[in-house]
Amino acid sequence: MKISLSTGSITNVKTDLLAVGVGAGDLRKSDDAKRLDDATSGLLSRAAKDEAFKGEKGETLKVPVKGISASWVVLVGLGRGLGAAQAAQLVGVRAAQEARQHKSLGVVVGDGGAEAVSAAADGVVRGAYRYDRYLTGDRKPKGGLTSATIVVAKQDKSVTAALREGEILGEATNLARDLVNAPPNDLSATVLANEAKKAAAKAGVQCKVLNKKQIEQAGMWLLLAVNRGSKEEPRFVHMSYKPRGAKKRVVFVGKGLTFDSGGLCLKPPKGMADMKCDMAGAAATIGIVVAAARLKLPVEIHGVIASTDNMNGADAYRPGDVFPSLDGKTVEIINTDAEGRLVLADALAYARDLEPDFMIDHATLTGACMVALGKWTAGFFANDDGLGRGYREAAEDSGESFWHMPLTEDLRETLKSDIADIKHTGDAHGGAITAALFLSEFVGKTKWAHCDIAGPAFLDAPHGIHPKGGTGFGVATGVHFLKRIAGK
Ligand code: BES
Ligand code: MN
Ligand code: ZN
Repeated sequence: MKISLSTGSITNVKTDLLAVGVGAGDLRKSDDAKRLDDATSGLLSRAAKDEAFKGEKGETLKVPVKGISASWVVLVGLGRGLGAAQAAQLVGVRAAQEARQHKSLGVVVGDGGAEAVSAAADGVVRGAYRYDRYLTGDRKPKGGLTSATIVVAKQDKSVTAALREGEILGEATNLARDLVNAPPNDLSATVLANEAKKAAAKAGVQCKVLNKKQIEQAGMWLLLAVNRGSKEEPRFVHMSYKPRGAKKRVVFVGKGLTFDSGGLCLKPPKGMADMKCDMAGAAATIGIVVAAARLKLPVEIHGVIASTDNMNGADAYRPGDVFPSLDGKTVEIINTDAEGRLVLADALAYARDLEPDFMIDHATLTGACMVALGKWTAGFFANDDGLGRGYREAAEDSGESFWHMPLTEDLRETLKSDIADIKHTGDAHGGAITAALFLSEFVGKTKWAHCDIAGPAFLDAPHGIHPKGGTGFGVATGVHFLKRIAGK
């Protein structure tokens, strides 16, 4: 899809479908909607009344029109209290979703400036997303949007750059979605590593992949422990983007469980159904590194991924087993379904040795985090106040829902083991926190944040700007965090 800018009058945009955002209540309170309503002799307000359109957040109403250059108008409800950028993103997403039967789309962002243009472009790319790789015959979608125009009050260099930025962010989010939505029989650790390599090559990023033998030579015994029950080999991926003159180094770490059956501590069928999503942290990591490189952010960025599936073959690891980790600590296995923190422990120990200024992991780590925050909010933990604040602000910039969780030191004693240095699960309570405390054992003095995205990474129904299935959650906040570090 080609996305361009226009500064013309909104009544003269030659497009199949023109989208405009309206707040809750009378649509004529919005200047742009009022102008379109006047130009169409009140068609929009009549349709809104007939269809009981209230302008609630995410609500849409599509109306065929006469009197303006567009053939259709879609009103997109903004509800109350949305900022300019988030409003533009929502209009972009909902408009592109409503434009499936059309070729061209116009999105009115008014005088929102560069940020709104970026958000609208990002929204259009997200909204046009569909995972149709496995559809055949009549079910295979034909046609679709070929062009979109962002209609803006005035255009300058910063607005043109913002358009490109929004596109890159939307595409990186969709890349992460594609990886998460891929069925687990077609996305082994080896395939995931190859996808990382492909995406890296396209973005001009270096990518090194360790195979099983090299993972053994490196001593990543916890990743190997989780892999024992699988027929598939594990993979360890290290992407790096090193622009000249970078003053900061950031490492992103991702949990890449291509499928989590729970292992011997087998999940019940309901709990296992969506466990192809358990590599969403790895997908977010790839999306962030690729977007940052394409945006040419002046920060050195690494993406580190530990990937395997968690299966229960004859050699599967057991509760009671003890394994050494990459950093030397020994770990007693309690529940084979707490596999994510094990592969992350080795990945964090590896990442720490890159001596980053900041280290940030993404993982679909605990059901407990969803119990605490609901399915639409990610929990994040930080061992450094500045980093915690920075990440919260980045989440505000991106509009993704993150909540700062505590690393409650008191709970650390629940990880004491009688026979090893540490066990990998605590007791029944505070499960998201004890998982984070376990990870903290492997980060040394590095400034580190942990994002538990178990809820929002994969949804059973669309919500806000997010589609059903893989959402690409975390990519936008990671990129906004890097932009902050780069001083942009
Ligand atoms: N991958 C799961 C967590 C998860 C649950 C992600 C639901 C997405 C949706 C993780 O490996 C897991 O099984 N965690 C266990 C930990 C427990 C055994 C201590 C959990 O949350 O039940
Ligand atoms: Mn698990
Ligand atoms: Zn898991």
